[in-house]
Amino acid sequence: MLKIITGDLMKTVSQCLVVPVCEDNAIHSDLSIIELIKKTEAIKEFHGKKDESLMLYHVDGVKAERILFMGMGKQEALNLESFRAMAGKSVKKAIGHDLSDMTFCVPAVLPAGLETETLMASILEGACLGNHVFDAYKKEKTKKVLKAISVFTDPSTAEPLAKLPARIRTICRGTLLAREWVSMPSNDKTPERLVRSMVKAAEKEELSFTILDDKVLKQSGMGAIMAVGAGSRSKPRLLILDYNPYKNKKSAKNKRTIALVGKGVTFDSGGINLKPSASLDEMKMDMSGAAAVAATLIILARLNHNFRVVGVIPVVENMPSGDATRPGDIIKTYSGKTVEIGNTDAEGRLILADAMSYAIKMFKPDMMIDLATLTGACVIALGEKIAGVFSTDQKLSDDIVTSGDATAERCWPLPLPDDYKALLKSDFADINNMSSTRYGGAITAALFLSEFAEDTPWAHIDIAGPAYSKKGGDYCGPGGTGFGVRLLVDLMGKI
Ligand code: BES
Ligand code: MG
Ligand code: ZN
Repeated sequence: MLKIITGDLMKTVSQCLVVPVCEDNAIHSDLSIIELIKKTEAIKEFHGKKDESLMLYHVDGVKAERILFMGMGKQEALNLESFRAMAGKSVKKAIGHDLSDMTFCVPAVLPAGLETETLMASILEGACLGNHVFDAYKKEKTKKVLKAISVFTDPSTAEPLAKLPARIRTICRGTLLAREWVSMPSNDKTPERLVRSMVKAAEKEELSFTILDDKVLKQSGMGAIMAVGAGSRSKPRLLILDYNPYKNKKSAKNKRTIALVGKGVTFDSGGINLKPSASLDEMKMDMSGAAAVAATLIILARLNHNFRVVGVIPVVENMPSGDATRPGDIIKTYSGKTVEIGNTDAEGRLILADAMSYAIKMFKPDMMIDLATLTGACVIALGEKIAGVFSTDQKLSDDIVTSGDATAERCWPLPLPDDYKALLKSDFADINNMSSTRYGGAITAALFLSEFAEDTPWAHIDIAGPAYSKKGGDYCGPGGTGFGVRLLVDLMGKI
C-alpha cells in the first residue's frame, strides 16, 4: 500500500521513519525532527554524505521504532533522481531488516528547482519500485517486500496530492510487470506463452487484444517475422493491444492514434550467425521493447488515458536449426519490399519492419514509436544507461528526450543520415538487413527501420543498453529494468 499521511510526526506509528539529510548542515526535513537529531550523539558522526546512512532505535519522544537517516550529498546537486534513489535504497534496507512498513519524511524546505508534487512522486516511485523481489524461481523466498509505504507531510501539501499515490502505484506496478517479463527465463516465455501472459494482464483492463498466430502471419505475408522465427520450434506471434477511449464515444474530438511497436525476441541466439557465448544468457532480455510497450498500454488503460494508443508487438525466438533462415536468403516483408539476409543476428529490424507496416496499414497512426534492444553498437555509443533516439520528427525527438530526463530514463538523439542508406544496398533484393560496414551500427539499423515508417512521423528508441542490468540499481534489482515504461507514460501525457 502506498499513501500520503499527515498528523504529528512524533506520534506516527511506523517501524521506520526515513529522514533524508543533506551535507553542509542543510537538513531537509520536518523541523521537530531536526531538533531531535541535534540532541543525539550518534548524529555527530553522520555528515549526510551520499551513500551514508544511520539507523537509530527508540529515539526519545519518537513513536516510530527506528529512524533511518539517509545521506543525500551536497544540496546543490540534488534532483528528483536523488530522491528516487534515496527511497529505493531505504526500502532495500528495510527489506533486509525484515520490516513490513516504512514512512518517509518529505523535506520541509524544498531544494532549489524542485516542486512538491514531482518530489513526492519521486519518493513514492523510488520506494514502490525498490519494493520488489524477483524470487519466482527460488525455492526459499528469504526476502519479504514491505506491506505499507507512506510519505509524511503537512495537510496543506497532502490535500491536492490525494490521487498521487494511486497513480504512482499503477505506473510502478506496470513497470514491475515489464521487469518480470524481461527477467523471466526464455524457457518459460516462448512467444506463445509470453503473449498469453501479456493478454492475461491486459484482460484486467479496458484493453482489447488480437493475437495473430504463425498460420495467420504466414497467410498475411509477414515474411520477415516468419523468417526470424523459422529456426525455433516455438512459433511467432503478433500481439495487438488496443486502448481506444473513443470506442463508445461517437463525438470525441481531436481523435488521435499513436502506435507503439516493441521488439519481442524471447531469446536471441543470433540464429545461424550464432552469437559468441559471453553473456548469451542475457539475450533473454531481447523482448524488453515488447515488455515496455505491453506494460505501457496496461498502465494507460488503468489511468483512463485520453487518446487512442495501440501496441503492436511481434514476438519470436531467434534460433539456429535445420529450418532456420540462412544468410543469403531473400525474404518478402509485409510491405512488399524484399530483404536479403546479410546476417541472421540482425533480426530485430526484420520483425519490427513487418510490425510497423502492419501498424500503419491497420491503424493509420498519427505517430509511431518503436522500442527495441536493437544493436550492440548503441551500447558502445551511449553506454548501459542511456538509450539512443532516432526520429523523422524533431519535436517528437525533443519530447522523448524531455520525458527521458523527467523519468531518469535518459535518451540521447542520434542522426538518420540519408547518405548512409547506401550501406544497406543489396545486389539481389530491395535492401540488405546488414550494413556493409561495421561502423555506425545503431544508425544503419535505424535507417533500415526508417524504410518501413512510410510518411508516418516516427521515432525509434534503441534500448539495448539500459533495458537490462546485471547488477541492478538503487531502485531496481538485477535483471530487467523496465526501461521505457515510465518514459512512455510520461510522453503520452505530454504530446
Ligand atoms: N539483440 C541484439 C542487440 C543487443 C546487443 C541487445 C547487446 C542487447 C545487448 C541484436 O539482435 C543484434 O544481434 N544486433 C547485432 C546487429 C548486427 C548483426 C548487424 C549487433 O548489434 O551486433
Ligand atoms: Mg540479434
Ligand atoms: Zn536481437
